[in-house]
Amino acid sequence: MRPRMGAVPISLPGAATLLQASPASPSSFPSNFVWGAAAAAYQIEGAVHEDGRGTSIWDTFSHTPGKVLNGDSGDVACDHYHRWREDLALMRELGVGAYRFSIAWPRIIPDGRTEANAAGLDWYERLVDGLLENGIQPWATLYHWDLPQPLEDAGGWPSADTADAFAHYAEAVGRRLGDRVHNWITLNEPWCSAFLGYQIGVHAPGKRDPRLALAATHTLLLAHGRAVEILRSTSPSARVGIVLNPAHVEPATTDEADVAAARRADGYHNRWFLEPLYGRGYPADMLDHFAPHFAPPPDADLRVIAAPTDFLGVNYYRPTIVRADPTDAFLGARSVQSPDDPVTQMDWVVRPSSLRQLLVRLHRDYSVGSLAVTENGAAYADPPAVDGHVHDPERTHYLAEHIDAVGQAIGDGVPVMAYFVWSLLDNFEWAQGYSNRFGVVHVDFATQQRTLKDSGRWYRSLIAPS
Ligand code: FCB
Repeated sequence: MRPRMGAVPISLPGAATLLQASPASPSSFPSNFVWGAAAAAYQIEGAVHEDGRGTSIWDTFSHTPGKVLNGDSGDVACDHYHRWREDLALMRELGVGAYRFSIAWPRIIPDGRTEANAAGLDWYERLVDGLLENGIQPWATLYHWDLPQPLEDAGGWPSADTADAFAHYAEAVGRRLGDRVHNWITLNEPWCSAFLGYQIGVHAPGKRDPRLALAATHTLLLAHGRAVEILRSTSPSARVGIVLNPAHVEPATTDEADVAAARRADGYHNRWFLEPLYGRGYPADMLDHFAPHFAPPPDADLRVIAAPTDFLGVNYYRPTIVRADPTDAFLGARSVQSPDDPVTQMDWVVRPSSLRQLLVRLHRDYSVGSLAVTENGAAYADPPAVDGHVHDPERTHYLAEHIDAVGQAIGDGVPVMAYFVWSLLDNFEWAQGYSNRFGVVHVDFATQQRTLKDSGRWYRSLIAPS
């Protein structure tokens, strides 16, 4: 179904006025607001066997028949490992002030535990230096889902030892890049790593066991806390944060059962992570709910997890509308959507107002120093690139409405400091392979030709310094 095209927000150059619009900066955004683009190592780098890189759980998963659409893998992806200079030039052309990328753990500690691989560190050092030379702030994520396979073989995220291994990795990276990278993200979306990876099984390592998933959440949070402390010492003046995918949860109806289901879904998606991160421990209602699968951890662990951070990164794509579902043994809830809702190619509902409400809620309920929208964007079935053009008005419209929602949240008093479009390039979209394109730059995967889409031109006109 095609999305409904609503009114274009007046404060932004919208899809209709695309390219005719003179570059504009919406007034609600502070002048030092950071406009960026984001990507992640396994989704773009390729070169999976080069310079001593080890194997990650996503190499294994994507090469397991039936796990990724069309049997796609990140073996080559956007070949960014070789084409990063060209991609840097694209970032300049796009005019972004920051680039959020992730470091591939298996390039740095190939076996997960022992020696750091100098060639891996060298590559990221070149990338960081290249960004800085071009006046683009590097925002580095330590973990965007590519756990070294040997660590998975030894128990993976459900095993507490993985937090020690992560600390060792964080130290190696922090020592090498800590003097130059001033914005650090420990983890990307630990909800996905734990629940998509170990409960629902649609992401690597593809397990289905609630006990493993909940144990994984705890190790991930511990790993985050340990890394915060390490990055503070290797990078004393840097800002350190975590990126979550918090949900704006709404009950489908006012029915008591749906309202209770929405409360559980909020516990599962949001409070299970936010409460311990902000020093309140795991939420009591969810500890009760998960009691068959999870024992409350010691206070010492909770102190590590609650290490103070400088910002909270929010990845937002769609709202979460919940109905009670007694057939769902784990949560007693399921997400629903109406056939009338506009959706993207991922079948994700488009609702920018939920982003504003989410940001307001996070600011109201947690002591987040500041917030950054670290991912936001949309997949649409773009036409192929012709004569240097890709016309993607639906993406432009999605971005315009969501950026407008961020501006409104700022107007509501929420300290949002940055916005990163997902994604710089069309890339390997996990279990969807290459079928769903999120880039503001089109990639022809047969030739590796890059083409700035109309949405990218629009974004450039929006963020260009006036
Ligand atoms: C997020 C991931 C990112 C990308 C987008 C579409 O959950 O962090 O890597 O796949 O979804």
